[in-house]
Amino acid sequence: MNMVFADTSFYLALLNPRDEWNVQAQEAHRMVEDIPLTSAPQVTICLYGIQNIMTILPTLETKRLVLRPFSLSDAKDVQRLAGDWAVADTTARIPHPYEDGLAEEWISCHEAEFRKGKCVNFAIALKSEGAFIGAIALMDIAKDHKAELGYWIGKPYWNMGYCTEAAGNVVRYAFETLQLKRVTSHHLSRNPASGRVMQKVGMSHEGTRRAEMLKWGKLEDVELYGILASDWAERPGKT
Ligand SMILES: CC(C)(COP(=O)(O)OP(=O)(O)OC[C@H]1O[C@@H](n2cnc3c(N)ncnc32)[C@H](O)[C@@H]1OP(=O)(O)O)[C@@H](O)C(=O)NCCC(=O)NCCS
Repeated sequence: MNMVFADTSFYLALLNPRDEWNVQAQEAHRMVEDIPLTSAPQVTICLYGIQNIMTILPTLETKRLVLRPFSLSDAKDVQRLAGDWAVADTTARIPHPYEDGLAEEWISCHEAEFRKGKCVNFAIALKSEGAFIGAIALMDIAKDHKAELGYWIGKPYWNMGYCTEAAGNVVRYAFETLQLKRVTSHHLSRNPASGRVMQKVGMSHEGTRRAEMLKWGKLEDVELYGILASDWAERPGKT
């Protein structure tokens, strides 16, 4: 057993948050549960690695994008891009104006929300130049059941397929990694671009809620979308 823990590559694997290593980490967890806690450095390191793998926010890669955890150094970009009225105008939760300190406060909650199993937030960055371009999240996660998908992209990056690329991969993560059964999303009826993203990742229109959202002091209609794990499994290419 110590042979396993002494293996450096395995130790590094434990510290690596990529999904494929989670199976190994869980296996290792089962193994260390049987050992009395000793000062053996390998075991301590291994436990530290397991602790990290259970709490570190995930990173996903797509063809052109990296979906990664936010860091406080993203706060200024969040404020600049989400602070654009055009972005705030069609979202439920982005305030306008976007005050100083709000982005830092929001980013600081991500890890705790993830640990509680409530929410997974991803910063969307371009693989080529590393530029931060937007945000995507699974919110209101109900374990073994469902989550709500939400996103925004900075205006200079609209209509380049970035949101669809990110959303397809987050839906995949919801079904294949979190093992959820249903992913929902919704958009203001006057925001058809968001509806297109939902359609392009395989979501079905499930109805309209009239006067559902109070936005800028006015009640607005909202379009509801959803996709089931079974729909996803049958989807060619699954993106
Ligand atoms: C909605 C949003 C996330 C889309 O991001 P994006 O990266 O531009 O999306 P994509 O490029 O992947 O796809 C956009 C699709 O909408 C279409 N579209 C754009 N404007 C449209 C319009 N006015 N009417 C209909 N379709 C429109 C595009 O043509 C494209 O569809 P296509 O590939 O079939 O041509 C982005 O516009 C945004 O951040 N808006 C502000 C915040 C927001 O509304 N977030 C969603 C809240 S529900």
